[in-house]
Amino acid sequence: MTATSTSPGDAVSKRRVAILISGRGSNMAALIEAAAEDGFPAEIAVVISNTASAGGLAIAQRSGIETLVIESKPFGKDRAGFEAVLQAALEQRKIELICLGGFMRLFTAEFVNRWHGRMLNIHPSLLPSFPGLDPHGQALRAGVKISGATVHFVIAETDAGPIVMQGAVPVHDDDTADGLAARVLAVEHRIYPKALELVASGRTRFEGDLCKSTSNGVDDQVLIVPA
Ligand code: GAR
Repeated sequence: MTATSTSPGDAVSKRRVAILISGRGSNMAALIEAAAEDGFPAEIAVVISNTASAGGLAIAQRSGIETLVIESKPFGKDRAGFEAVLQAALEQRKIELICLGGFMRLFTAEFVNRWHGRMLNIHPSLLPSFPGLDPHGQALRAGVKISGATVHFVIAETDAGPIVMQGAVPVHDDDTADGLAARVLAVEHRIYPKALELVASGRTRFEGDLCKSTSNGVDDQVLIVPA
């Protein structure tokens, strides 16, 4: 028998990831770019969209990533029917982790439980504040001075679950929802790859309902707004 040795980052030791999208896929693109780096502990095995019109599909194809469209519309309210097809596609590709990147379809509790601890989402607010639709409008209406983005494990409740990583940005008095969204999006693109790296390399653990991690350190800079 031939002995083979592997080190972190070797192709064989990379976690196989599926990214699920419904739209432009800018977070997907950030994950693909990060995963292309030497030593990244995950590989993007497939990008799956629930609509053929998702702009992100072309980006993934240009990067040489397999893409798959599983139209959810024909399933209507039959979430389980859609998820059965999705689950088969994931199993066929031996997917170990799912990253949701603007995937605009709710899952059944059964699907979420099946992927417990193995499915990540990103949401453009500092959860648990402002889950759901229009998070930036919610933040502006609440008058918060700091907002941001959250990467979390998915649980049955929408935009909730153990938080892996957050990034914060200032909110300006004259911000529009679009302006704030752009500032937060830049942070999303930084933290999602970092969070996936933490999870895929086994540096996160659960303590009750919380996610703790062994990261390389904490940036203890303080953000005070207005300065
Ligand atoms: C991102 O801002 C993401 O945080 C948000 O959808 C956008 C998708 O953009 N997700 C949610 O609101 C989830 N509740 P992208 O397709 O360019 O990554």
